[in-house]
Amino acid sequence: MGYSRILGTGSYLPSQVLTNAQLAERVETSDEWIVTRTGIRARHIADEQHKTSDLALRAAEAAIASAGIDKDEIDLIIVATTTPDMIFPSTACILQEKLGLPGVPAFDVQAVCAGFIYALSTANAYIKSGMAKKALVVGAEIMSRVLDWDDRRTCVLFGDGAGAVVLGASDEPGILHAKLAADGRYQGLLNTPAQISGGKIQGMPYLHMDGPAVFKFAVKSLSEIAMSTLAEAGVEKSAVDWLVPHQANLRIIESTAKHLGLSMDKVIVTLPEQGNTSAASIPLALDVAVRDGRIQRGQTVLLEGIGGGFAWGAALLIF
Ligand code: ACO
Repeated sequence: MGYSRILGTGSYLPSQVLTNAQLAERVETSDEWIVTRTGIRARHIADEQHKTSDLALRAAEAAIASAGIDKDEIDLIIVATTTPDMIFPSTACILQEKLGLPGVPAFDVQAVCAGFIYALSTANAYIKSGMAKKALVVGAEIMSRVLDWDDRRTCVLFGDGAGAVVLGASDEPGILHAKLAADGRYQGLLNTPAQISGGKIQGMPYLHMDGPAVFKFAVKSLSEIAMSTLAEAGVEKSAVDWLVPHQANLRIIESTAKHLGLSMDKVIVTLPEQGNTSAASIPLALDVAVRDGRIQRGQTVLLEGIGGGFAWGAALLIF
């Protein structure tokens, strides 16, 4: 059985930027508090008329261009999102229509901030089994729409954006190993519990989070899954050229890097300018580092992320 390999990357950030200082005009917070506790300085906010599929489209187009393929070669579309355009159809189907690719199978993956790892791992399995040859894998979010902008505990943390990769079948090593995990017993620690019933929103339609509990779990589970992914792939941690972590909190990222024995100059960090863009954060960070020349072909890259569920995972690959 061959490999699946990343053929190209792309990303998109809305032009509107919201700084910590601007947030401090709205809620009782400060740039100093936010930077010290999280590392975040600013985040991008989607225009009112845009939906998640619009952000996904820009990132997808950039990834297809970077892969140097004709879009008609794509035979699978997976979108990781927790902020879909609508309840149904899937954002992947809406993106498929916008890309002009009728007939191509398209579906969403919901694993919140771990969504991109889940989607990448799914596309990898499709390609390795021969069910697809070139998959478009997108992480796209408009988190600003599920935030309570009067809740300083959560509204300072998140941002909007999209990232994408084109994954293609290859004889050369690409994704070496991907590992997923979930534990629904922790669903209450991080959720947006609202549902629609009888034409009305039932329950709280805003993101709720027990920050300290999420922090503790994230540090432990990310380190564990990163180490076990490496062990199962038979790759030493010293062989990792780059860590591309989910961008939730700089202290979580630093802690995972420390467990892996990686210095921070081998870690891609986009959090200060982007905040936590949930499923979009890993492909956004990957694209930034590919485009600025840090991540080079042939290098070993470890991706890892965790989100509500809890759901978490890691993917080890040769870029
Ligand atoms: N500005 C000023 N003060 C604040 C703010 C704010 N924005 N938010 C909370 N505070 C206050 C609290 O009210 C509390 O005050 P009190 O002691 O008077 O009650 C105090 O700061 C400390 O609050 P804690 O929640 O204990 O602060 P903590 O040091 O844990 O930092 C944070 C909070 C940044 C959310 C941290 O817990 C964290 O990063 N957790 C990880 C969660 C995360 O990153 N989630 C993202 C989604 S999940 C994921 O992607 C993994």
